[in-house]
Amino acid sequence: MFDSYARNIDYLRVSVTNRCNLRCKYCMPEEGLADLGHTSILTLEEIARLVRIGARVGIRKVRLTGGEPLVRRNITKLIADIAQIPGISDIAITTNGMLYADMAEELKAAGLTRINFSLDSLNPETFKYITRRGSLNEVIRSIAKAIEIGMAPIKINTVVMKGINDHEILDFVELATRMPLHVRFIEFMPVGDLPFYKTDRVVTVNEVREIIEQKYELYKGVNVQGNGPAKSYHIHSGIGTIGFISAMSDHFCGECNRIRMTADGKLRSCLFGKEELNLRLALQNHASDEKLIDIFSKAIREKPQRHHMDEGWGADNKRKMYQIGG
Ligand code: GTP
Ligand code: 5AD
Ligand code: SF4
Repeated sequence: MFDSYARNIDYLRVSVTNRCNLRCKYCMPEEGLADLGHTSILTLEEIARLVRIGARVGIRKVRLTGGEPLVRRNITKLIADIAQIPGISDIAITTNGMLYADMAEELKAAGLTRINFSLDSLNPETFKYITRRGSLNEVIRSIAKAIEIGMAPIKINTVVMKGINDHEILDFVELATRMPLHVRFIEFMPVGDLPFYKTDRVVTVNEVREIIEQKYELYKGVNVQGNGPAKSYHIHSGIGTIGFISAMSDHFCGECNRIRMTADGKLRSCLFGKEELNLRLALQNHASDEKLIDIFSKAIREKPQRHHMDEGWGADNKRKMYQIGG
């Protein structure tokens, strides 16, 4: 379905939980968060039903996010259910990789088509510093497992932060030269655990590019399967690719193709918007499929033209990144 700016909205990002087994400094407070509890989050059956409704208004691709999606119990079953929905051709997940290695095969068998790993450092101490817990080894094991079982493409999301991991940019590029990985450098956005965000921690994608181009030539013309905002490049003799996600310096809202659903059943038409439509309430009121289709259509119709994050996320924005799923 097209929105009022002629964008084809065919991608639904579903946050299946607020919970996470890590506490990345830019995302969550150390003490975690008030658990939504089982009663306020959608059941897996409700999520599957809502994805089916989404498919009826033109959703073709689904990404499961969190928090950390793999901490949600029976996530494999949800993937299997979504895989049965007519019209859905792509079921992806964005994970921190802590739990994936031992679930990889069952997830693939259930119908998971693609995986993106969040990984901000290749140094065990820096990894620990950023995530406050967790183990780099586990994530590496998960990535190796994804390669081993033939997941493709496999993407790595790296949020670049000055003074924290910007000295590792070339290490990540080197990783993409050796392995079939698509490394995407992401601009730090002012969302999430705001005290950690500082404008002087932002490294723009142009700055990242300059650092890379001192050592590597980047070649255009790559087409990595995906639905997201990354611009990708080949590197000489590299098996993987390098991508840039410039949420701040060059927003990509004109090509936006997505809406989002939160774990507590709110439909958001923009990551940075403040508007939400309450699907969960509709479910509690025994909404018919037609009523739910109306809510999805309204979210798409009213999708804003662009974000205004440079004017601030705003303390009045009720949501944090881990409640939306990036
Ligand atoms: P692919 O389909 O594999 O390309 O995935 P993706 O890039 O859509 O998803 P992923 O979850 O890996 O997100 C990568 C980065 O892009 C994260 O930092 C997200 O927060 C950011 N991102 C995703 N969607 C949006 C969006 O609508 N607006 C902005 N500004 N950033 C987004
Ligand atoms: N800025 C940019 N990316 C972020 N992510 C989480 N918080 C931010 C932020 N403030 C990324 C995570 C994950 C993806 C879903 O969003 O690293 O890869
Ligand atoms: Fe968890 Fe991802 Fe947030 Fe890190 S960025 S705390 S892995 S949800």
